Amino acid sequence: RTILVLNGPNLNLLGQRQPEIYGAETLADVEARCRAEAGSHGLAVAFHQSNAEHALIDWIHAYRVGSAGIVLNAGAYTHTSIAILDALNTCEVPIVECHISNVHRREAFRHHSYVSLAATAVMAGFGTHGYVLAVRHLAHLREARP
Ligand code: DQA
Repeated sequence: RTILVLNGPNLNLLGQRQPEIYGAETLADVEARCRAEAGSHGLAVAFHQSNAEHALIDWIHAYRVGSAGIVLNAGAYTHTSIAILDALNTCEVPIVECHISNVHRREAFRHHSYVSLAATAVMAGFGTHGYVLAVRHLAHLREARP
């Protein structure tokens, strides 16, 4: 079984982009840590990033049924994209919304999330470690299944 870890716009620049907010780790570092965590639970990771809304929607479609779940940091599309919300609402698998920063102590426009309307769980403010915790939670949901 595979967990989709999906990153939206500007997250390709992780490590260089506002490190005082998003930290020093790169997206490749995050990918390695997600793979290690998933692997320790016998799960695989599909790790993708795109700056394009349609590409994110296509990845959600590809993993909406039969995967072990989706970890999604939709970046700024979190706050704008009804199309991503609609895609998430087609999913039969658990969805963990993940934000590196604590969006609730930032600008008011970051306080509303379309993704949250479809998310099983929400992470914010755990830094890049939040991805690892999200993967761990999806593994836990599978292990806890009757
Ligand atoms: C973010 C928070 C968003 O508001 C922002 O647009 C991002 C990153 C985070 O990980 O903290 O691109 O999702």
